[in-house]
This record gives sequence, structure tokens and C-alpha cells, in this order.
Amino acid sequence: MAAAPVWTPLLVGLLAGLGGAEAQQTTLHPVVGRIFVHTLDHGTFFSLPEPGADPPTVSVTYHAHLQGHPDLPRWLRYTQRSPRQPGFLYGSPTSEDRGRQVIEVVAYNRDSFDTTQQRLVLLIGDPEGPLLPYQAEFLVRSHDVEEVLPSTPASRFLTVLGGLWEPGELQLLNITSALDRGGRVPLPIEGRKEGVYIKVGSASPFSTCLKMVASPDSHARCAQGQPPLLSCYDTLASHFRVDWCNVSLVDKSVPEPADEVPTLGDGVLERDPFFCPPTEATARDFLTDALVTLLVPLLVALLLTLLLAYVMCCRREGRLKRDLATSDIQMVHHCSILGNTEELRQMAASRDVPRPLSTLPMFNVRTGERLPPRVDSAQVPLILDQH
Ligand SMILES: *[C@@H]1O[C@H](CO)[C@@H](O)[C@H](O)[C@H]1NC(C)=O
Ligand SMILES: *[C@@H]1O[C@H](CO)[C@@H](O)[C@H](O)[C@H]1NC(C)=O
Repeated sequence: MAAAPVWTPLLVGLLAGLGGAEAQQTTLHPVVGRIFVHTLDHGTFFSLPEPGADPPTVSVTYHAHLQGHPDLPRWLRYTQRSPRQPGFLYGSPTSEDRGRQVIEVVAYNRDSFDTTQQRLVLLIGDPEGPLLPYQAEFLVRSHDVEEVLPSTPASRFLTVLGGLWEPGELQLLNITSALDRGGRVPLPIEGRKEGVYIKVGSASPFSTCLKMVASPDSHARCAQGQPPLLSCYDTLASHFRVDWCNVSLVDKSVPEPADEVPTLGDGVLERDPFFCPPTEATARDFLTDALVTLLVPLLVALLLTLLLAYVMCCRREGRLKRDLATSDIQMVHHCSILGNTEELRQMAASRDVPRPLSTLPMFNVRTGERLPPRVDSAQVPLILDQH
């Protein structure tokens, strides 16, 4: 809560400071369907301290966004390899982007902490000249995207590509980093680049050489890891390493049939002589089926239960039969075991009771006197008569 009053004047001051330094305004004219490249150079944002100063020693980073929005419009991309190198705004506007777009670019000087704002007014218009229905896209593996955005390498690409195409005016339509199309950042090994997709358009048809490179036969060879069919001399090879397996050709010279607008009917089918409606189904009573399905198993289960109960409860061989079948001696033996066990149990329940007399060491059962035994009972014969 307390932070708000502190921050608000600061923010306002910052914005006023940005607005006060009268923002430079540049008007640019991108064209629908053609590549647009704008270089963000240190020199255009910060006047260098002295004329002899070495520009690359200044570290500047940029932030660009559509006016009133936090980010760039969908068609425009921003890239900068390092703060010492220029930044690029590039992209290919589509017909929906036609009109006026204002891009605000803030440059931060990383050495002096200066900031400068620049406004780019983009007036996006329709292309002039002939249509470019023949479009080809090449994957250049030997370059990063910043290396083909400046005009020199871009025009060199077109010039050398002209050797492969029927003579005609070639134009750059789109440039995309391979990283934006699912490519991977290469290992930091000398000579490995991210790769860049370059889309070129022309009014003149593809040469047979290009057609062959993009033919299904070539793709089949590529899928097996073999080089594609390149019937002509690769004029690009001296400057650009093009992946001939990833060439795609688009021929827009044949206009696509316009999508027919579906007409809405009244929702009622017209009379169709072949339409055979399903016959009326007769009502069926499923009650008996259901009852049979449920009751028969229930009855069987009940019957089995009753049978089992009868066998278990009524046909049990009783104790009487067991007792009769057992000899008396066994019964007595068993009974004494039971009695003794019972007595032991009772003794265990109350351990305070005096020891049973029979267990005392010197106890005469008949006289009750307590004397140490005079005879060693172990030596007295059990049956005295036999002595
Ligand atoms: C340019 O390429 C990018 C990336 O592939 C794509 O999103 C964009 O639609 C293309 N622009 C045009 C005008 O084709
Ligand atoms: C190149 O094309 C092949 C198929 O033609 C595809 O599998 C592969 O992903 C493409 N590579 C790149 C980097 O686009």
C-alpha cells in the first residue's frame, strides 16, 4: 500500500523523462508479403562521444514493442546477437497487418546507462509490380539469421540463386531463423550455425533443376540419407551452404478454387427415392425374460442353501454316536486330562491360593505331619509284597 505513492511519481518522472527527450520518429514502408528489415544501430540512438570513437565498443540493448502494447506485432521479430552488435527488426507482414503500426524502440546504453527512445512509423502497403506466384524456400545451414538480414548478403543470395532459376526478378519474401521453426541451438563448435530459412519469390516459373530437387524422388533419397537429385551446378555453394533436402516449392500461379460458401437450407431433407425409413418396431414385453433371468438362478441358489443347511444341521453325526464308539478307558483318560487341565487353568487364574497339599514335599497324607521323609521313596518298591 505504502509503495504506491512512492512509485507513482517515480514512474511518471521516468515516463516524462522518456517522453521529454523528443523521441526520434522514422517512417518506414514495409510491403505485404515481402521481407522487411530494419537495423537498430548504435549510431542512430546515441551520438558517439567523439567522432573517432570505435562504435563496436558501445554496448547497447534494445526493447521494441507496438505502441500501447507490451510486445511486437505478430509478424515482426527482433533479434540481436550481442549488445555490441546491431539489433534487427525483421518480418514479413501479412495482408491483415496492412495500415499504420507504430513501433517504439527503447535503447539502453549498457556503459553509460543512457536510454533513448525512437518511434518507427510503419506504413504497411500492398506490393507493386507483378505477382510472385512461384515461391521457394531454402534452408541455409551456413548462416545465422543476423548474417543474412543486412542487405549485402541478402542481395548476394538472390544474385547467386538467379543462376539456378529461369531468368526473372527474384525477391526476398520471408526470412526466419531455423530456431523459430523447430531448429536447435548448435554446439559451440567452430563453423556451426543455427541456420536460416529464406523464402524467395519470382514471377518466372521454377527451373527443371529446382523442380527435380523438390520432387518426391529426391525426398525419397533424402529420407534414406542420400543426397538429392541436383542436376545443375550449385552456384550457391561458394557462399551459402543450402540444405537441398529442405527445399520447398510453392506454385501459386494456379488460383486456388475459392471456398464455396455453404448455403443454409431449411433443415428439412428433400424427398429421396432411395431413402428407406426403418420399419416400425413392434412393442415387446421383456418382463417374463427378466423374471426368468432373475428368478431361476435365485431359486437354484435357495435350493442349494437349504440342502446345505439340512446336511449341516440335521444330518450331523452326534456326540452319542461318538461316545458309543469310543472305549471306556479312553473316555476316562480323556476325562482326567480334561479335569486336570481345568484345575490348572483355575490355578493360573488365582496364584495367591496356597499350594495344593499334594505338592508339598514332606506331607504325610494320613497323619498330616510335616516331617522330612525318612526313606528315600525312590528306593521303596512299588509293590511291597514282591520284596
Ligand atoms: C514468414 O515466416 C514465418 C515463420 O515461418 C511465418 O510465421 C510467417 O507467417 C511468414 N510470413 C509470411 C508473410 O509468409
Ligand atoms: C528437412 O526436411 C526433412 C524432410 O524433407 C525433415 O524431416 C527435416 O525435419 C527438415 N529439417 C529441417 C531442419 O527443417
